[in-house]
Amino acid sequence: MSTRKVAPSILSADFARLGEEVERVAPEADLLHVDVMDGHFVPNLTIGPPVVAALRARTDLFLDCHLMVDNPGVLLGDFADAGANRCIVHIELGDPRPLFAEMRERGMGVGLVLNPDTAVDTVLPYLEEIDLLLVMSVNPGWGGQAFIPEVLDKVRVARKAIDDARLPVEIEIDGGISETTAPSAAEAGVDILVAGSAIFRADDPLDAARRIRAAAWPTAA
Ligand code: DX5
Ligand code: ZN
Repeated sequence: MSTRKVAPSILSADFARLGEEVERVAPEADLLHVDVMDGHFVPNLTIGPPVVAALRARTDLFLDCHLMVDNPGVLLGDFADAGANRCIVHIELGDPRPLFAEMRERGMGVGLVLNPDTAVDTVLPYLEEIDLLLVMSVNPGWGGQAFIPEVLDKVRVARKAIDDARLPVEIEIDGGISETTAPSAAEAGVDILVAGSAIFRADDPLDAARRIRAAAWPTAA
């Protein structure tokens, strides 16, 4: 049973007016997606703990930090101190268990993410240890890329594994989500839709978030 949430990704917001941008979408945001990029794991360089701390002072929304960094271990303490509610780490970095332990110890939720080219089998052994599985539907690095529909097969496999084992793990999808692509993601069993450019680059971001939700889950709208 899907939990049906929309997570605006602030990567596509106007960083010079970040507080206002967040407040504008807050009524339709179940949580906020914060893209942390270090210029190494991905070429782009974005934001870190100081910006999370500034957001924390401005909003009560759940702050979900997607760590696209080579060495998340050295940053987890700073994100926890900044007020992050959860961090999401990439399986491509290798054994995530030490990171999970540190996140739990610091009171944060645990997320695990896999890239479009990474097999779903790599994350299935960790389902009992995580709160969130993030399936990337673009190659990470930038907002505004085209949705890769083939990743939905991985969502279906993960959905079945989670439901069969009755685990309280949410499935999130990130990249190229819009009114057009959201229905297929919802149908595959996604719980949380991340959307950056489709929300913050719209003329009316609040309405855009509402439309994505309604397109994905028409009966719940
Ligand atoms: C991409 C990021 C995404 C990004 C999505 O590396 O992980 O969260 O903000 O942006 P859109 O929704 O524009 O594809
Ligand atoms: Zn992201």
